[in-house]
Amino acid sequence: MKIISAEFVMSNSDVAKCPKSNIPEYAFIGRSNVGKSSLINMLTSRKSLAKTSGRPGKTQLINHFIINKEWHLVDLPGYGYARVSKSTKKTFQKFITDYFKQREQLVSAFVLIDIRHEPQPVDLEFMQWMGEQQIPFSIIFTKADKLKPKAIERHVEDYQNVLLETWEEMPNHFVTSSTKNIGKDDVLNYIGNINEELSASK
Ligand code: GTP
Ligand code: MG
Repeated sequence: MKIISAEFVMSNSDVAKCPKSNIPEYAFIGRSNVGKSSLINMLTSRKSLAKTSGRPGKTQLINHFIINKEWHLVDLPGYGYARVSKSTKKTFQKFITDYFKQREQLVSAFVLIDIRHEPQPVDLEFMQWMGEQQIPFSIIFTKADKLKPKAIERHVEDYQNVLLETWEEMPNHFVTSSTKNIGKDDVLNYIGNINEELSASK
């Protein structure tokens, strides 16, 4: 899929106020500072469509962007930054969990994982929660430029092994780097294919 246009629509802290239109929607979620906003800029080839920062907690609202006047891309705040609590409710801000529970237009989410780290409890917990809610998602490993190819392979495998302890199969996954422009076409084609299937089945 080629991106012809990418525009900011609105920011919200309340899912009820998000755009009402019925176009397909894809949301990017993950720990603070994992690179959600940077990835969105990489995918859309726009330098600062989504605001990024070296300090965790930059994105604080649900941000809708419209792509090719055809589908919504959503940049969400990170989880797991504000004083991590043992209870899922507090770890994942309520308006984020409400967004996933209530947003009927959501076709699929992308859970971003920093490829450099061992599987982290908060990420596993979030994916577990998404599974329980039956929300389809793919994994996007970020910051692949920070590791050598062999280490990337090893880290993906480690993740796979941990996930397969609770999941029947490894979720669909992508390896990306926003600084080196890695993985862009894979993610865009994946979204493009789903959009085509959706419009063919209408
Ligand atoms: P919050 O909005 O705070 O939840 O963070 P975010 O997940 O949107 O992260 P953001 O895109 O703001 O990036 C956080 C930091 O990571 C910034 O300093 C980015 O420059 C850096 N970063 C993001 N993606 C990459 C990447 O692919 N490679 C490298 N090396 N750095 C990256
Ligand atoms: Mg952000």
